[in-house]
Amino acid sequence: MKENGLKLLVAGGAGFIGSSFIRHVLGAHGDWRVVNIDKLTYAGNLANLAGLQGDERYGFFRADICDAVRMDEIVAAEKPDAIVNFAAETHVDRSISDPSLFLRTNVLGTQVLLEAARKGGIARYVQISTDEVYGSLGPQGKFTEESPLRPNSPYAASKTSADLLVRAWCKTYGLSAIVTRCSNNYGPFQFPEKLIPFFITLLRENKPVPVYGDGMNVRDWIHADDHSRAIEAVLLRGRPGEIYNIGGGNERTNIEITKLLLSALGKPDSQMKFVPDRPGHDRRYAIDDTKVRKELGVIPLVPFEEGLRDTVRWYLENEPWWRGVQSGEYLKFYDQWYSQQGRT
Ligand code: NAD
Ligand code: TYD
Repeated sequence: MKENGLKLLVAGGAGFIGSSFIRHVLGAHGDWRVVNIDKLTYAGNLANLAGLQGDERYGFFRADICDAVRMDEIVAAEKPDAIVNFAAETHVDRSISDPSLFLRTNVLGTQVLLEAARKGGIARYVQISTDEVYGSLGPQGKFTEESPLRPNSPYAASKTSADLLVRAWCKTYGLSAIVTRCSNNYGPFQFPEKLIPFFITLLRENKPVPVYGDGMNVRDWIHADDHSRAIEAVLLRGRPGEIYNIGGGNERTNIEITKLLLSALGKPDSQMKFVPDRPGHDRRYAIDDTKVRKELGVIPLVPFEEGLRDTVRWYLENEPWWRGVQSGEYLKFYDQWYSQQGRT
């Protein structure tokens, strides 16, 4: 894919990883442009992109990816070179209590975007998926791109369904699409419902932190900036029709993560409380990222201890950000932005 003067349509760019990706690509490529489409659900926050206010290379539409008419209009008007889809409902616990929204956005929304890409003759479509499509591992082994798809949560099942739609649009319509499957991300701007920011914000308030089950579940953690760099490489140099696993090479039990956070915040181990397990809780995720390393030269750069320390510091220094997202106050940022721009 051409690198000069690229125009990207990013869906879900106001969320945690999408905003990291937008900040990264506009920082790294002076001649790139980004159009961000986001519904601004509870998880989408334009304050994550406040640094881009006034940057003419960046535009925003508040829109739902399930709205086919709107997606077709935006693609026809903006004529992007590529679409990168981050937009999704993303929290496993929410998917257990209300699966239908996950099917709507993650499955139907993906189908709408694939159709918009096909009709608009878009040169490249990248679907941001997850290692959770592969299900759960025992103590040994890692997920490769050939591992069977065995999703266990409604969230994972919806992401798997979306991946299969991407495959069908490649095979049937010749869409030049690629799927990335990454492990658990951490870093600044993550909504404080996910393990790491949830626990940091609870500990900041001197509250106990709820560890599900025996706390021995394992996740492979990667900094969102490393994920963003990997997506950029896949977008530019990945092979159409392929799947690329992305991982941090950094497996930790939830107890290990919790103890690191307790120590970083100067709290005693007694603040760790074991609570009943999440239904269908996957035991272990681990990524074999040989393909993305060998083909595209992608390696994670952020050492975990350093990344985690910086992330804790970021949450401590940005208390108004997380208090704002907890209360919904951040939507005022959108109203302020909208009144200045006069555009949705
Ligand atoms: P997030 O929940 O922080 O952000 C999701 C964004 O999508 C929000 O800005 C939200 O407003 C937007 N959105 C939701 N529904 C929408 C709709 N119908 N139309 C338009 N926009 C909508 O999620 P995240 O952690 O940044 O994850 C981004 C993507 O990466 C997701 O597809 C997720 O499955 C995938 N992923 C996440 C992780 C992780 O650890 N967070 C790991 C691997 C893959
Ligand atoms: P989470 O951040 O929800 O990501 P995912 O389920 O997509 O991997 O959870 C990460 C791990 O932390 C997972 O094993 C569930 C566990 N967890 C807890 O033990 N307590 C909590 O309050 C949360 C939110 C997660």
